[in-house]
Amino acid sequence: MKMQFPVEAFAAIETPFYYYDVELLQATLDTVKREAARYEGFHVHYAIKANFNPRLLEIISKAGIGADCVSGGEVRAALNAGVPADKVVFAGVGKTDKEIAFSLDAGIFCFNVESVPEIEAIERLAAERGVVAQIAVRVNPNVGAHTHANITTGLAENKFGVNYEQLDEVIDVVETMPHLKLVGLHFHIGSQLLVMDDFIALCCRINELQELLLETRGLVLPHINVGGGLGIRYDFPDKYPIPDFEAYFATYANNLKLHPGQQLHFELGRSIVAQCGALITRATYIKSGTCKQFIIVDAGMNDLIRPALYDAYHRIENLVSDKPDGVYDVVGPVCESSDVFCKDRRIPVTERGDILAIRSAGAYGEAMAFGYNCRELPKAVLSTDL
Ligand code: LLP
Repeated sequence: MKMQFPVEAFAAIETPFYYYDVELLQATLDTVKREAARYEGFHVHYAIKANFNPRLLEIISKAGIGADCVSGGEVRAALNAGVPADKVVFAGVGKTDKEIAFSLDAGIFCFNVESVPEIEAIERLAAERGVVAQIAVRVNPNVGAHTHANITTGLAENKFGVNYEQLDEVIDVVETMPHLKLVGLHFHIGSQLLVMDDFIALCCRINELQELLLETRGLVLPHINVGGGLGIRYDFPDKYPIPDFEAYFATYANNLKLHPGQQLHFELGRSIVAQCGALITRATYIKSGTCKQFIIVDAGMNDLIRPALYDAYHRIENLVSDKPDGVYDVVGPVCESSDVFCKDRRIPVTERGDILAIRSAGAYGEAMAFGYNCRELPKAVLSTDL
């Protein structure tokens, strides 16, 4: 099942816009659910940060998947989309009192806590309300992952989580707090990981840590959360429209030693939404430089920042040209020299007005769009709208 583009319908729509193939999203959700259900106690939470478009969230929530949030706004978006509060987890190093209070009042499942001052803040706010908050300590596993430096999060010098050596101390603090219940440990090593060895390395760290906690404190926690990170194939979106969830869940099932009854949580973002979305744009001008040809499109780095920010590769297709390939830099209209989607790329000869698709943009595309240069935020069109 590859992504479908109703090009004729696109002709009447103002560009740029994000286009989402709902059938592919649904097929992806079905696969995630089916593959996770092979194992007892596996729970998937969708990482809302990847795409918080409310209509997509509703489809995802209807699939019965929980939510992983990193702000009060995301907690609200999850609840508005119909995700039950007891399937919402809330992570992040900088949760404000307002965000914590809102989440306590909503009765979310768990706070993934990242520091002692944050633990103190949750205790105080839970005490004020006379409730007990469930928390999981986010542990920095110090596992390097094979991905871009800006999106690896599990190394010791990262701002995320508490270090391995500090965990004992942190648990001591939590145990003095009557309004907190420690229910789990949380981990996340990075994003866009295609090498299963990275997840195996994480499993080994968790196994060690679980053994240590059992030996030194007699502690077995009911929940382990391994974060997200499963990557997608930006190079071949049509050949690999649905990520290999089978191998992903099997990797955890085969390598992680869970205690009897222990529940395993996943926070998948990109792998669920990336391939069903594309940024649709028109060629505004074709410009010849001295030795380069530029396709200047009407989408810019403000609509999709991944190439400018991470040097990320996205396939770019001309949806209407059947001419032989030319070689182009595809650039946006924003007044920044980093407003470039790709350089020296072979794309069929393109004319002014041609419609192009920037592929695999369903994750961290629309969600990271901004209004620089007084540009309008990109609209979203779902296949079911047409
Ligand atoms: N859980 C935690 C704690 C996270 O920090 C993240 C992503 C996820 C789950 C979801 O990871 P995923 O399954 O999507 O890999 N903007 C970047 C990616 C940033 C990822 C941040 N954290 C990009 O466009 O590549």
